[in-house]
Amino acid sequence: MISRKIMLNESDIPRQWFNLGAELKVQPPVDMDGNPIGPDALAKIFPMNLIEQEMSTERWIDIPEEILEILYRWRPSPLRRATYLEKYLKTPARIYYKDESVSPAGSHKPNSAVAQAWYNKQFGIKNITTETGAGQWGAALSFACKLLGLQCKIYMVRVSYEQKPAQRNLMNIWGGNCVPSPSMETKVGRAILAKNPETPGSLGIAIGEAIEAAVSDETGKTRYALGSVLNHVMLHQTIIGLEAKKQLGSINEKTPDIVIGCAGGGSNFAGLSFPFVYDKMNGDDIQIIPVEPDACPTITRGPFAYDYGDTGKQTPLLAMYTLGHAFVPQPIHAGGLRYHGMSPLVSQAVKEGLLEPRSYNQLKCYESAMLWATTEGTVCAPETSHAIAAVIDEAVKAREEQKEKVIMFCYSGHGLLDLSGYDKYLKGGLSNYRLPDEDLNSSLNEIEDYPKPSVS
Ligand SMILES: Cc1ncc(COP(=O)(O)O)c(C=O)c1O
Repeated sequence: MISRKIMLNESDIPRQWFNLGAELKVQPPVDMDGNPIGPDALAKIFPMNLIEQEMSTERWIDIPEEILEILYRWRPSPLRRATYLEKYLKTPARIYYKDESVSPAGSHKPNSAVAQAWYNKQFGIKNITTETGAGQWGAALSFACKLLGLQCKIYMVRVSYEQKPAQRNLMNIWGGNCVPSPSMETKVGRAILAKNPETPGSLGIAIGEAIEAAVSDETGKTRYALGSVLNHVMLHQTIIGLEAKKQLGSINEKTPDIVIGCAGGGSNFAGLSFPFVYDKMNGDDIQIIPVEPDACPTITRGPFAYDYGDTGKQTPLLAMYTLGHAFVPQPIHAGGLRYHGMSPLVSQAVKEGLLEPRSYNQLKCYESAMLWATTEGTVCAPETSHAIAAVIDEAVKAREEQKEKVIMFCYSGHGLLDLSGYDKYLKGGLSNYRLPDEDLNSSLNEIEDYPKPSVS
């Protein structure tokens, strides 16, 4: 009989995270003069135990038992097989997905939120500030802070704050204090609002506000947490791919031919794929595909350059694919994919030819999400629909080639708190948006004179 739900016992949960930073030569973060940034320069933003993780070159890092104790609420997550979609598509491919929608917040985000809140608490921090795009990260961090007795303040990108009230409710249930960004509470927010009072906001702006709020707290008990992009976030998410490997092994399935994830800042994609990137570096033939929106095509059209992680220019310069830190993407519904940059680790893997990025437009993604909902039965997050669009294309290709491929993807979250996007889609109220070259070039003008990565 076919296994549709491949479960892993709690006792088999991975006890170490995998650090791709041990395998890739990522360029260090630098200042404007091109000098590498040391740990001390980040000490006002992050707790030192997470900075150490950020800079670690150890391949394996132990997961503290107390973090696992919290993760057991939903982990190990199921690996499922999408047999109903396979049947509909008449594909010989076997499609597996790691179901991260089963977490309390409904996405992969708590995997890192719990870890970050725990390390902050260990370091004596009482308050955490953060940004959120779609709301999933803000909800996840509110959940983690509530369990660990910390205060959580969230700057939520304004367009999402208006489009997704249910995510706000979830943050409030877990005690999070959520405000729309840009806000009048920070210098970064006030400056943006003075220039453009109608701005939909962006993750870059919200990150700038949250960092400012953390570093300006004179008690020294506040730090900032980022839901994606940074090395330690990718690290925490690798539990997804490590579990998936054990689950495939438990049913004697072969190594996947294709691994897919949607990519905003890169964390769910990295979480599933990095253990397989390691296998690919060691000779396995695996196609690994990060998928992004046409409206925010960071790894498919941006240059590999040094740029700030936020619009307020408070982070060090990171070597990554970028659309420019001042870039404000169109208000597409996949709010978690509206980020101008990409994780330096994912970027380096793209640069080294280990990944094959692609982008899709909004309507194709909703069409794919609808097909998923009417075959597999679940309603995915708008971000996740990008991965599903690629899965469908690859499964159709396998049918045309009559090849029995194994395709695996990260089902990064459910869309049950995000039904307004589906509503608009069903009423014909959504459109596609492709970023014009002129807009991209003008956004990139600002980083033209920045230091350049040596392998650009
Ligand atoms: C459900 C879901 N998937 C994917 C993403 C994209 O983020 P990342 O690239 O860090 O996984 C988000 C971000 O908010 C999300 O909520």
